[in-house]
Amino acid sequence: MGLLNLLSADRSENLFLPAHGRGGALPKNIRKLLKLRPGVWDLPELFEIGGPLISEGAIAESQNSSAMQVGVDRCWYGVNGATGLLQSSLLALARPGQAVLMPRNVHKSCIQACLFGGLIPLLFDVPYFTDRGHASVFDRKWLQRVFRKAKQLDEDIAAVVLVNPTYQGYSADMESLINEIHAHSLPVLVDEAHGAYLISQIRADLPRSAIYFGADLVVHSLHKSASGLVQSAVLWSQGNKVDPLKIERSIDLLQTSSPSSLLLASCEGSIKELFESKWLKKLNSRIEEAELLRDFLINKEVPLLQNSDPLRIILHTSKFGLSGIEVDKRFIKKRIIGELAEPGTLTFCLGFSSHKRLGKRFVRIWNEILTSFGQQKPCLFKRPPFSIVSKPYKPCSYSWASNFEKVNLQDAIGRISVEMVCPYPPGIPLLIPGEILDQSRVDWLIEQKYFWPDQIPDFVRVIS
Ligand SMILES: Cc1ncc(COP(=O)(O)O)c(C=O)c1O
Repeated sequence: MGLLNLLSADRSENLFLPAHGRGGALPKNIRKLLKLRPGVWDLPELFEIGGPLISEGAIAESQNSSAMQVGVDRCWYGVNGATGLLQSSLLALARPGQAVLMPRNVHKSCIQACLFGGLIPLLFDVPYFTDRGHASVFDRKWLQRVFRKAKQLDEDIAAVVLVNPTYQGYSADMESLINEIHAHSLPVLVDEAHGAYLISQIRADLPRSAIYFGADLVVHSLHKSASGLVQSAVLWSQGNKVDPLKIERSIDLLQTSSPSSLLLASCEGSIKELFESKWLKKLNSRIEEAELLRDFLINKEVPLLQNSDPLRIILHTSKFGLSGIEVDKRFIKKRIIGELAEPGTLTFCLGFSSHKRLGKRFVRIWNEILTSFGQQKPCLFKRPPFSIVSKPYKPCSYSWASNFEKVNLQDAIGRISVEMVCPYPPGIPLLIPGEILDQSRVDWLIEQKYFWPDQIPDFVRVIS
């Protein structure tokens, strides 16, 4: 069909990201811009425009005003997604040879930063929902245990990363976690890729952004959880634990020398909107609509899981013994396209456009799927075999750059991986470069291969 044709083709129900729903919920100013003569907005870092790292010009003014609006010291717009800004943050937080504590459900971009920054990822285990195969959130006690174990590894820990909310919309008590990290005099970077709209504090019953609990650095993916264009993102910084100059040097290291003015305008537009009363009214009605949809589906016995983000609907397919990946294919055939298909669930992202007539259609399709597969017993997932805190057996960067050979998974016991094994989405690595494949990890990966047949290969590349 060709990319250009595909881009203009109609898709009936977008329940995937970006959250602007194929333009339906783009900020008014961006829509206006896109209606002008195509390309007039495609400009370089001209004098009046500037760029994310230039102290004068429209972008500097816009960044300053966004930071002021949110109540933080600084912010930087980004054109390489949350990925780019998480990586810049990590390079600003730690030097080569230093360690960063990160949860096992960290996004692959953070591991990549360790790889090229020479950092040591100290990965800590997180609670796990065996009924659906998801990483869960954890509390302060859990984190205290992580710190006790991490100290035994005798590494120079420079910072901690938290991921909140998760892709599926689970959220932790961030205040207590951030306080705990600060009690250890460490800075915390919060990957809030999925929680940008929470900075608007629209409702008291929704999670609050980690910004309001004093997180030192927070990264938002503006296309995932605000109405930005794909690749738009923002990094917020506050307090005196991280030097802004280090952040700028790191952004400069990784950012293109020609950031797109359209994407930067989209950063501005999607952030400003989060504080405009008209948009907040619209957001509120989207949330209410989502809650009605959820109630309707639950009343019709569609198995939905509880989370903290009303705009993310998690269909619990494994409750009926079904794979979310297979169920996703059926929904796609019926022209409902979800976001995150996993072995035990299928997560739909409602985004910021309206889905008023979705309920009945959803129920009909789900019932057809159940009839055609036949109801099966609930499927339980085995907890991953991770120790509470672990560090790679060999440095990530060394392993990644090592000569390698390809071995079948079952023959990989005792070998050291040179790569990530990482189903995408969600982009959470199951194995990272430098980790050793012991028996339990190999058994678990073989089992995971059964659940993610197209995403996990039969082989792994290991140091030769
Ligand atoms: C938790 C989390 N962090 C970061 C990212 C990267 O976001 P982006 O696509 O904006 O680079 C993702 C993408 O899936 C994610 O799920």
